[in-house]
Amino acid sequence: MKITVVGAGHVGATLAQRIVDNELANELVLIDIVEGLPQGKGLDMWESAPISGSDCYVIGTNDYQDTKDSDIVVITAGLPRKPGMSREDLLAKNVEIVKSVTEQVAKFSPNSIIIVVSNPLDAMAWTALKVSGFEPHRVMGMAGILDTARYRSFIAMELNVSTKDIQALVLGGHGDSMVPLPRYTMVGGIPLTELLPKDRIDAIVERTRKGGAEIVNYLKTGSAYYAPSAAVAEMVEAIVKDKKRILPCAAYLRGEYGFEDIYLGVPIKLGKTGVEHIFELKLTEDEKEALRKSAESVKNTVAQIKL
Ligand code: NAI
Ligand code: 2OP
Repeated sequence: MKITVVGAGHVGATLAQRIVDNELANELVLIDIVEGLPQGKGLDMWESAPISGSDCYVIGTNDYQDTKDSDIVVITAGLPRKPGMSREDLLAKNVEIVKSVTEQVAKFSPNSIIIVVSNPLDAMAWTALKVSGFEPHRVMGMAGILDTARYRSFIAMELNVSTKDIQALVLGGHGDSMVPLPRYTMVGGIPLTELLPKDRIDAIVERTRKGGAEIVNYLKTGSAYYAPSAAVAEMVEAIVKDKKRILPCAAYLRGEYGFEDIYLGVPIKLGKTGVEHIFELKLTEDEKEALRKSAESVKNTVAQIKL
């Protein structure tokens, strides 16, 4: 198993460390355009392997030749947002970056599975699909696991219960119009709607929608990376170990939920071939309307892309 992480910044480097610590690959390649950055971080990480007891060999590089024949490629290259910026504000620069990265990935690792992290997420996953020419089940985006983890962490705080006992789902695009689903949220098998009044649930949903901005406003110079890297590591593990996990991820829709030619967060079965199934949930009229709005926002962003 060979994994490449493109972008040795906050998300990429933290993800790489998680992959090494959990020995999710035999070989990990960290690649970036900045000379010395992936080499330094990669060597430092490899030097941690004797302590963590990992045999995942790490190299850092600026040369795609070293990424040749990767099984999984995670694209984290791109600008993060600063306070006051929306994810969409990153579009022009990040399209350029994701396009050039994907061309190299398709050339050197034509059989790989691509996980896109760069923002605006759903539009960048769409870009990677179109540029790579890969089948849609091999190109996906990470967002839903992160958004759901934020939602679950807020519910755990509110109820003072273990995060382990909260199962939930956030659908839609990775933006302010994402669609957390309280009706599908369980706390140790008990519906959330029986444990909290509507106004508290609404407040948690709102905080979840703005969860990314909350961190940006604290950090000021960039965006979140601990929870995002944990979310990508969960996807990587599902693929590497063929776990058939059911996880909310950005997947390419061809008629599912009534949408065409769009990436949107939906529950998928994730295994060694990538997206193995897309689950279609029965939604109420309000939930459908919220998802339609979220999809419209993603479509508007994608409409601005010129490849
Ligand atoms: P960062 O600025 O710390 O790292 C980005 C890295 O990409 C830098 O090291 C930069 O040199 C590198 N890079 C730029 N152009 C490149 C190219 N052409 N080839 C290779 N490397 C290149 O940013 P951070 O915090 O790691 O975030 C990365 C991206 O992930 C951002 O677009 C951010 O918005 C997005 N993100 C998405 C999340 C999601 O839920 N989907 C969660 C967190 C971040
Ligand atoms: C987040 O939600 C930046 O999209 C990223 O934290």
